[in-house]
Amino acid sequence: MGASFATHVLFLLWFFAATFSLSLFKAESNISCIEKEKQALLIFKKGLSDPRNALSSWSDQVDCCRWDRVHCNNKTGRVTELHLSGFYYDDKSLLSGDYEKRLGGEISLSLLKLEFLNYLDLSYNNFNCTPIPSFLGSIGSLRYLDLSGANFSGLIPHQLGNLSSLRYLSLGSNSDLYVDNLRWMSHFSSIQYLDLNSIDLHREVDWLQIMSKFSSLLELHLSTCQLDSLKPSLGFVNHTSLQVLDLSYNLFNHEIPNCFFNLSTSLVVLKLEYSLLKGKIPPSILNLHNLEYLLLSSNDLVGKIPESIGQLKYLKYLDLWYNSLSGPIPSSIGNFSYLEGLSLSDNQLSGTIPESLGLLSNLEWLSIDKNLLTGTVGEGHFTELSKLTSLYLSNPLFFNVSSNWIPPFQLDVAYMSYCKVGPNFPTWLQTQKSLRVIRMSKSEISDEVPGWFWNWTSNIEVIDLSGNHIEGDMSDAVLNSTVLNLNSNHFKGRMPQLSANVKELNIADNSFAGPISTFLCLKRNRMNKLIILDASFNLLSGELPDCWKDWQSLARLDLGSNSISGGIPHSMGSLVALQTLHLENNNISGDIPSSLQSCSQLELLDIGENHLQVTIPLWIGEMTSLMVLRLRSNGLHGHIPLQICQLSSIIVLDLANNSLSGTIPKCLNNLSALAKPDNGGSIHFGYLPYAYSMYVENLFLVPKKKQLEYFDNVKFVRLIDLSSNNLSESIPVEISVLFGLHFLNLSQNHLTGAIPEKIGSMKELESIDLSRNHLSGEIPPSMSNLTFLSQLDLSYNSLSGRIPLSTQLQSFDALSYTGNPQLCGDPLPKTCTVEEEPSNRTPIGRIEDHSEKYSFYIGLGVGFAVGFWAICGVLFFKRTWRHAYFRFLDGIKDWVYVTTMVKVNWFLEKLRSCHLISERHR
Ligand SMILES: *[C@@H]1O[C@H](CO)[C@@H](O)[C@H](O)[C@H]1NC(C)=O
Ligand SMILES: *[C@@H]1O[C@H](CO)[C@@H](O)[C@H](O)[C@H]1NC(C)=O
Ligand SMILES: *[C@@H]1O[C@H](CO)[C@@H](O)[C@H](O)[C@H]1NC(C)=O
Ligand SMILES: *[C@@H]1O[C@H](CO)[C@@H](O)[C@H](O)[C@H]1NC(C)=O
Ligand SMILES: *[C@@H]1O[C@H](CO)[C@@H](O)[C@H](O)[C@H]1NC(C)=O
Ligand SMILES: *[C@@H]1O[C@H](CO)[C@@H](O)[C@H](O)[C@H]1NC(C)=O
Ligand SMILES: *[C@@H]1O[C@H](CO)[C@@H](O)[C@H](O)[C@H]1NC(C)=O
Repeated sequence: MGASFATHVLFLLWFFAATFSLSLFKAESNISCIEKEKQALLIFKKGLSDPRNALSSWSDQVDCCRWDRVHCNNKTGRVTELHLSGFYYDDKSLLSGDYEKRLGGEISLSLLKLEFLNYLDLSYNNFNCTPIPSFLGSIGSLRYLDLSGANFSGLIPHQLGNLSSLRYLSLGSNSDLYVDNLRWMSHFSSIQYLDLNSIDLHREVDWLQIMSKFSSLLELHLSTCQLDSLKPSLGFVNHTSLQVLDLSYNLFNHEIPNCFFNLSTSLVVLKLEYSLLKGKIPPSILNLHNLEYLLLSSNDLVGKIPESIGQLKYLKYLDLWYNSLSGPIPSSIGNFSYLEGLSLSDNQLSGTIPESLGLLSNLEWLSIDKNLLTGTVGEGHFTELSKLTSLYLSNPLFFNVSSNWIPPFQLDVAYMSYCKVGPNFPTWLQTQKSLRVIRMSKSEISDEVPGWFWNWTSNIEVIDLSGNHIEGDMSDAVLNSTVLNLNSNHFKGRMPQLSANVKELNIADNSFAGPISTFLCLKRNRMNKLIILDASFNLLSGELPDCWKDWQSLARLDLGSNSISGGIPHSMGSLVALQTLHLENNNISGDIPSSLQSCSQLELLDIGENHLQVTIPLWIGEMTSLMVLRLRSNGLHGHIPLQICQLSSIIVLDLANNSLSGTIPKCLNNLSALAKPDNGGSIHFGYLPYAYSMYVENLFLVPKKKQLEYFDNVKFVRLIDLSSNNLSESIPVEISVLFGLHFLNLSQNHLTGAIPEKIGSMKELESIDLSRNHLSGEIPPSMSNLTFLSQLDLSYNSLSGRIPLSTQLQSFDALSYTGNPQLCGDPLPKTCTVEEEPSNRTPIGRIEDHSEKYSFYIGLGVGFAVGFWAICGVLFFKRTWRHAYFRFLDGIKDWVYVTTMVKVNWFLEKLRSCHLISERHR
């Protein structure tokens, strides 16, 4: 869902941007204001805080009708309008949005002296969670009142109900407003625009009935109001004028009543997304024959999209994203001759794409990815789509166009992963001159990359061609895209050259060859600003050079599974931004240089499967950011240093298959990240300071005897693997406080003594392998408490006594216990004699819990070759979110440059409440 959520956000932003319009204030003519009103305004100003000095023109010396943001009647000179929104277009027509610098303070009673005030806009200021002043209800002349987004909270005063001339009332997007009932609104006989977004209305069950009395209503905004019923009650009067109805983000949790769409046939905009709606799209939707915007995304709608939907012939935006709709895309969509945006992604739509799609000559945005659509998409599907800029097609479709096809469109974004575009290279791409993002992963292209291609890509920001069979020698290519993912193809030659624009280069799993130093020390690459380099699984050779000072932007470096030899140079310590370093599965020898301590942000260090024949350095304890340390299969010898226990962030410690001797440190209980119960959701490898990235870490681990490749899901793994060393003495009992550990492998050492009695308190354990040691004593009864345990190997030790009875321990094969001659009881064939019979043991263990939890991990794709999307998970979601966000900023200049989600949400909220088409009615 992550990916298309981002797509969807883009869709919405695009939609809002397209409908957002700009209004500037008119200058007044030269009449003068009356003294009493000027003084009232000066008192009002005094009460306010004005950090931006927005009211600097409000001076006693100047006629108040000439003040900024004050409008007077041009005959009487009486103040009629106050435009004091904190969210306005400044001189440069840039939206200003600095919350710190808005009006605030106290709203003075002196406003009551403005007897002819009919327009008061205080929106998007910051009144610090104070209540809405009830005296505003006494400004009887008000026809327009906007208090939206101004950080008011508390109960909305009933006194506002006295404003019987109100045409426009906006109270939406405040912090924490609520109503006890809405009966006070019953005098709003002339109301045309009502915005109560994000006000808690759930205490008023009759909201629909009360609002239905507003016969002049044009727009009703009730998004995020905690409403729980859409069912109109008896005595309902139908709206004849309502044009905009926003009921999104509510909690309806029922079907859309068929009669609901009878309420107003005049609707132009209907927003019902994210509202827990169920059932089918009722046929009465056809009554809304003036509808232009229909947004039903993120509900749980089922059934088919009615073929008759084509009768809504004025539709411009149809958004059914993320429901459970099935059946085909109706061919009647060809009737939507005004349609500009169509989003049907993330449903279960099947069948072929109707050719009538090609008739939508106004279509700019088409997203139908993440469905079960099949069949062929050909040139006919695009015949009239000359305005198309965003294409999200990813489905298992055959994309079959002729090699000399000239598409009618110029795309900005093309998502075509999983579409069978190949086997030939899609030459039509060359016609696309404004493309910024192209994803054509797993598209079965197995062709030589054409000569024009690398030059053509130089203006494209994001290219993903991973998982194809594309061939080509890249020795002379100069890359200029921000993100290039060419993972898993057949590219060969020397590694390409990079401009300073490239931030992410993933060329893993190709056939690049030659000394790694040629690339790293190339003069041309000296200016690079690369953040991610993944060149793993290639044929790179030679030693790591001393050119790292040119690569100081690197945050992720993966050179694993090549033929790199020699030592790790001291100069790698200059990679101070490095978060993950993979050098595994090469021929690296020598020491681990202490300079790596300078890489203080390092979270993952994998030098496994090399020839490091040294001791584990003591300074490793200083690397307190390390979450993953993998040094397996080297020639490491000596003791495991106590300093290893300082790795308070470690979640994966893999030192297996070395020659380590001595004891297992007792201080392991200090590994605090492992001592905490599972909190995988909150762990991530460092954020990357740019948008678009889809890069996921990979790591090879052996959690349950088989080597598995982990991706982003590695954050859910908690593993200690010290197997196949020469460790001796007993397993420290302290280990049993590692409550978060999932996988423990101490097999093939020389461990003696008993299994720690409290091993059963490590409740998250899924796998224990203690096989091939010299452990003795009984199997601790607490082990029967390990309800998630799905793999156990205690074989070839000297354990004795009865295997404790539990659903769990008897479910394993006898092989799990074999080679312990004195062990008896189920599942071993040897039965226990009376002496061996323990006195007070009862079977424990709840198998049902286990299966649920277990499937959770499996579901997260623990190490399996899960589809690309499934792997990406939360991290991906976050990144693409930012992608969406930055892309939007790009489009609307660089206003409010913010980075936190909180502000993004605020901003979206603002967009949501931005008066869609209200400008038209004013
Ligand atoms: C405004 O001032 C101009 C001269 O400055 C005058 O000609 C005009 O009549 C005035 N308009 C009004 C409405 O007073
Ligand atoms: C005065 O205002 C009215 C209505 O706002 C407008 O129609 C009229 O043109 C204005 N007159 C002058 C002189 O600005
Ligand atoms: C609203 O006011 C509260 C109380 O002063 C403040 O903590 C909060 O940051 C304000 N919210 C916004 C969005 O400014
Ligand atoms: C709504 O009003 C229209 C005309 O004003 C009328 O034809 C229709 O029957 C009414 N619907 C209901 C459900 O009252
Ligand atoms: C790359 O394309 C540009 C125009 O887009 C052209 O001027 C330039 O010569 C091309 N370079 C190569 C090496 O083809
Ligand atoms: C490289 O990309 C940047 C922006 O990403 C663009 O401005 C520049 O023209 C590109 N350079 C070439 C040679 O195409
Ligand atoms: C199993 O766990 C329960 C509670 O978590 C505990 O009371 C019980 O003593 C444990 N059983 C054994 C045999 O340790």
